[in-house]
Parts: sequence; C-alpha cells; structure tokens
Amino acid sequence: MKTIPFFPYADLFKRDEAALTDIMMGVCRRGAYILQQECRDFDANLAKFMGVKHAFGVANGTDAIIIGLKAVGIGLGDEVILPSHTYIATAASVHLVGAVPVLAECGADHMLDAADVEKRITSKTKAIMPVQVNGRTCDMDALRAVAENHGLMIVEDAAQGLGSKFKGQCAGTFGKFGTISFYPAKLLGCFGDGGAIVTNDDEVAVKIALLKDHGRNADGRVVAWGYNSRLDNMQAAVLDYKLKSYPQEIERRRAVAARYQAGLGDMAELALPPGPDADARHFDVYQNYELEADRRDDLRAHLDKNGVKTIIQWAGTPVHQFKDLGFTVDLPKTDAFFKRCLMLPMNSAVTDEEVDYIVKTIRGFYGK
Ligand SMILES: Cc1ncc(COP(=O)(O)O)c(C=O)c1O
Repeated sequence: MKTIPFFPYADLFKRDEAALTDIMMGVCRRGAYILQQECRDFDANLAKFMGVKHAFGVANGTDAIIIGLKAVGIGLGDEVILPSHTYIATAASVHLVGAVPVLAECGADHMLDAADVEKRITSKTKAIMPVQVNGRTCDMDALRAVAENHGLMIVEDAAQGLGSKFKGQCAGTFGKFGTISFYPAKLLGCFGDGGAIVTNDDEVAVKIALLKDHGRNADGRVVAWGYNSRLDNMQAAVLDYKLKSYPQEIERRRAVAARYQAGLGDMAELALPPGPDADARHFDVYQNYELEADRRDDLRAHLDKNGVKTIIQWAGTPVHQFKDLGFTVDLPKTDAFFKRCLMLPMNSAVTDEEVDYIVKTIRGFYGK
C-alpha cells in the first residue's frame, strides 16, 4: 500500500535539488552568511509581492510577532484579542512582551469571529490580532469596523497567509504590521526557521529594523535595545528563489482544494473549508485543507490504515485549553470545532490521483 504523507519535506527539496544546492553552495563559497545581498533582495521582493512599503526578514515567525508588538508599543498590562484557534506562538508573543492574550472564538470559516471579539473589548484592550489561519484572510471589513469603533490597532499574524487576499489586499498588510512564517511546511518554506514582518508605517519600520539587529542603525551604531533576530542569508537566498515560482505553488494548492471540493462537497457528514471560488471577496491560498467531520477520530484512523496521513491542527489543542498557562476562558464553539477538525494532505506535491484516492477512502468510510 502506498503512503500519502501529510507533508513530503524531503521530496520538495529533491524535485529542485540541483538549483537549490547551487544557491546554497553559492552563499557558502562567498562566505556571505549574515545580512548580505540576498537578504536585501528578498526583503525588497517580498514587499513588492505583498504590495507593502517595508518587509524585514527575521529569524522566525514568532520573533516577528514579538518584534512587531514591541515596535508598535504594546506592552505591560495591555490586552490583545486573538483567536484561540491559533498556534501557541501567537499568544506566547503577546505574553512575552508583557501584555495579556485575550482569546476569542472562530466562526464557521475557522477565522476570528468579529462579533465575539467585540464582546471581549475592555478599557485595557490595545489591539486586535487576526490570525490568517489556513491560508485564508479573515473578514477584514468586519474586524476593521470593530477596531475603528473602539479606537484599536489591528496587528496581523499572517504566518499561514502569504499571498492570501481579502478584496484584493494581501494578508499581513491590513494593520500596523503583519507577520509571516517560513517554517519548512509553510506555503513558502525555507530549510530551517525563518520569518518576516511587513508594515506600511515608516516609523514602525525604523523600530523593526533596530529591534531585529541589536538596536544598530544603518551606520552600525547602537541607538536602541534590540534582539539578534536576523533571517540568515542562506535562507533568504532560498526564499528569494522560491518566491519566483510562488504563484504556481498557490495555483496548484487551489487546484487541489477544488478537487477535494468536487469529490466531497455533497457529503452531509463533512463541513469543508470554503472552495477556491466560493466568495469573490476571498482569495485563499490553502496553507492547510482543514475540514470538519462526523466521527472524526474514526475517520482519521480509517485514513491512516489506508495510508493517508492527516493532522489535527495544533496537535489538537486550541490555546485556551492550555490550563497550565492560566487560561480560564470558556470557548464552547472552539471546543466543539476541535472535536471535529481534521487536515487532509495539502501541498504542491500531492497528485490528482492521490487526491482522488483520499476522496474515495473518505467516501468509503461513510459508505458512500
Ligand atoms: C498561526 C501561526 N502563528 C505563528 C507561527 C510561528 O511561526 P514560527 O514557527 O516561524 O516561529 C506559526 C507557525 O508555525 C503559525 O502557524
């Protein structure tokens, strides 16, 4: 029996091994490891791709959020509202700058629910942090309206959303800053850790540039406290190369999503994510294909027995369920969602035949 991995890490390297090896060896041969031309090129090309004024490569997507929050002045005692359906890194970043992560429900499309956000606003709330999860952008009209009504900042965790759009505007560009992760399984993945922060605000950009590199200005003089959080030049070189074919990566994932939709869309036992053309306001890039399923655990076991590897996002635990971190908030919608959610293989290596096999295996499980 053939196994369909959830994410074929090595295959994605092997299918372009000669070019990728050449790029990495080139960096080594020149000894160009830290903050060299490739970093400048990638920052410029990423900013262009996203339609934003400034982009900064940093060490990972978690540092990106921490640095962004520091750059916009969020700190001690401030509250930031974010979805519980996110990676622990989003909430941890808020905590680590001294602020309080306030967790909210997600709606039917798995995204931060604006109405629930509004209920959680207090006099200490400073920002709303939409997480552009699964390669979809939240309903930014609704979130912006809440933010404007209450005088709040929007800051975006777009770790999973590079290239995703809402009304033609890229995820990551709606608020004071947005962040991206280049973790290897991300849509644009590097060969280790990597991340970026983007902003349209010139003052915030100056602060980010200082915070990511020991507080050093363009002349190398230390003028502020800062971190060592640079995207290394080897990763920047790889990412800059992969960015060139990124539209094809997105196109293939949207085709895979359309094939899942065509094969499973009629099944009452499942709630699929919105299809690629379901709503003209959204352009989804399908970082993940996360559906809801009746008898989810049995379905997962059945898929596994038939060679199809799946994942439950965040290892099955939304942030508010980490009681050791002190969360006491009750989020019944998110709890219910986490009993049903499941992610199917979604990447540009999965073939049409494999998608058809996964569809057949799921239909077989429900006797269809
Ligand atoms: C929604 C979300 N936020 C933050 C992160 C953190 O990114 P990184 O792993 O690059 O630190 C990730 C990725 O892992 C993520 O999926």
